Amino acid sequence: MTLLELRDLTITYTSARGPVPAVRGVNLSLDAGQTLGMAGESGCGKSTVAMSILRLLPRSTTIGGQILLDGEDVTGMSWGRLRAVRWAAASVVFQGAMHALNPVRRIGEQIAEPILLHNGAGAASSRQSDVDRAVAELLERVGLPARHARAYPHELSGGQKQRVMIALALACSPRLVIADEPTTALDVMVQAQVLDLLAELVAERGIGLMMISHDLSVLAQTCQRLAVMYAGRIVELGPSHQVTTAPVHPYSAALSAAFPTVGDPASRMAPRGLPGDPPDPADLPGGCPFHPRCGVSQPECATQDLQLRPAGPEHTAACVHAHVPAQEAAR
Ligand SMILES: Nc1ncnc2c1ncn2[C@@H]1O[C@H](COP(=O)(O)OP(=O)(O)OP(=O)(O)O)[C@@H](O)[C@H]1O
Ligand SMILES: [Mg+2]
Repeated sequence: MTLLELRDLTITYTSARGPVPAVRGVNLSLDAGQTLGMAGESGCGKSTVAMSILRLLPRSTTIGGQILLDGEDVTGMSWGRLRAVRWAAASVVFQGAMHALNPVRRIGEQIAEPILLHNGAGAASSRQSDVDRAVAELLERVGLPARHARAYPHELSGGQKQRVMIALALACSPRLVIADEPTTALDVMVQAQVLDLLAELVAERGIGLMMISHDLSVLAQTCQRLAVMYAGRIVELGPSHQVTTAPVHPYSAALSAAFPTVGDPASRMAPRGLPGDPPDPADLPGGCPFHPRCGVSQPECATQDLQLRPAGPEHTAACVHAHVPAQEAAR
């Protein structure tokens, strides 16, 4: 059974300005042992999709469509069932999460917490020595010495804290890990180490990994498939090497031509060579939402908003320029 399947997912925030349709009809699937990247500029809906999978959005948010985790629809789960699923079936490494560690509690206690919560405080596996051993094993697995269990967050570097976050995400052996910008705050060397670690864990434990980044080069390095989001929709989906080296959608092409400079916030917000900003989801232009910024738009792009269409084997794009001979698309 497919580990994660999003079917026509729509997510609308409620704000003082009115409804904000942040995600508009996303279809995606991810199997165990697979890696899927999600790319796109700031505000295109990546974190919103990620948070919806464990229902971590504000209560006032409206979710439409289905979020199937091992075939079970998350949108209909009771809070009790959700608590069981979080950590144990699926876990999230949040954007900027290393700052979310509790500063006054030791690392080991923080990793032990979900283990104790999910095993039940009375269970045999909750004996202090067993939990300590589990914490030490997790720390070692993410490349940290077990003695760091006694450290406080301020005693660790940014890269070490991000490893702790990955250890936390793995604490209850989930089958799905969602990593939202897991390396954005890290320098290039540490970033590469954290990415290698995630890739090893996927291979070793058969985890399904959904990784979010604005940086296509990071995703291409780690993920088999890549989804490019724009204005709340997937505009291109295909094998990573295809999407990065032979992009079909002009937006993907602009992103891949503009690998952001690490550590430069300006390049993150506006890829070089791409004029303007992504639209406000509450005020989308008619037609293809990308057409006002597109260098190759056609007259019909101002009126037609295309669905994803075949652009090659296992490759789709929502663009008038996505054309492949029918026999090639069927291969
Ligand atoms: N609680 C909220 N209420 C109203 N609008 C929201 C809320 N949270 C996010 N949004 C809007 O939804 C859109 C998608 O936001 P989201 O955080 O998913 O983007 P993102 O792709 O993860 O961006 P980034 O790369 O900056 O992390 C944005 O336009 C944002 O302003
Ligand atoms: Mg985000």
